[in-house]
Amino acid sequence: MSFIQIEHLSKTYKGKDDSVHALNDINLTIEKGEIYGIIGLSGAGKSTLVRCINLLERPCEGKILIDGKNMPELSEKELREERRKIAMIFQQFNLLMQRNVLDNVCFPMEIAGIKRKEARLRAKEYLKTVEIAEKAKAYPVQLSGGQKQRVAIARALASNPEIILCDEATSALDPQTTGRILKLLKQINEDYGITVVIITHEMRVIEEICGRVAVLDKGNLVEEGPVSEVFKNPKSKAAKRLLLTKELSEEGEENGLN
Ligand SMILES: Nc1ncnc2c1ncn2[C@@H]1O[C@H](COP(=O)(O)OP(=O)(O)O)[C@@H](O)[C@H]1O
Ligand SMILES: [Mg+2]
Repeated sequence: MSFIQIEHLSKTYKGKDDSVHALNDINLTIEKGEIYGIIGLSGAGKSTLVRCINLLERPCEGKILIDGKNMPELSEKELREERRKIAMIFQQFNLLMQRNVLDNVCFPMEIAGIKRKEARLRAKEYLKTVEIAEKAKAYPVQLSGGQKQRVAIARALASNPEIILCDEATSALDPQTTGRILKLLKQINEDYGITVVIITHEMRVIEEICGRVAVLDKGNLVEEGPVSEVFKNPKSKAAKRLLLTKELSEEGEENGLN
């Protein structure tokens, strides 16, 4: 059995007059210690899928097995425990603006009831890991995007997770900073053995660090496999379109258009 196993997952958002089929019968598996990519254009259902994995969004149908436990079937208490294994990082960083960097990283440990002194010691270590220890006393407004994301990664580590879900974590960053953050995620994946799920609309992000990738298109999983195969020989329209977008943006860079 795989570490994360998604079976026949469907999610429909029901409105007053209409409903949106955000995910249709999604099946995929993610192994422990893997860096797995999920790519698709805006509206494809990526955020819905990632929010279903930790049950921030309740699926209408299907199973989400994490380490053999079917998330939708858990009691509130069991779910709280399982969720502790899963950290998330976001495009907009979601830091607490009125707390300094160190206290942001301490936050999940406070919630978990870890004593303040120990939490601060551990937080300092995590800040070293993400190479931003010198900003411990700074406030989020004083940081660049890349620095904020480093703090968010340190905060994710502070919950001692087995899985990190990244929803467009580098989409607000320039290409160079994106590269550095991806390198950091890879290092964390290797050093801590944390399984990383990367959600993005950018092919180059997937290419840089993911082993396998799933392509989402209008709520359907249209292609899945090792990154090298999917990108070398894309079969679905969606994957071909994503590849074209990447090539155009690279040409733009070469011609100084970006
Ligand atoms: N809370 C919600 N209520 C209603 N519709 C939603 C909600 N969240 C997302 N959707 C719709 O579901 C579809 C997939 O959205 P989303 O998962 O955010 O896609 P992506 O992250 O790939 O851009 C979109 O059509 C979006 O408008
Ligand atoms: Mg999204």
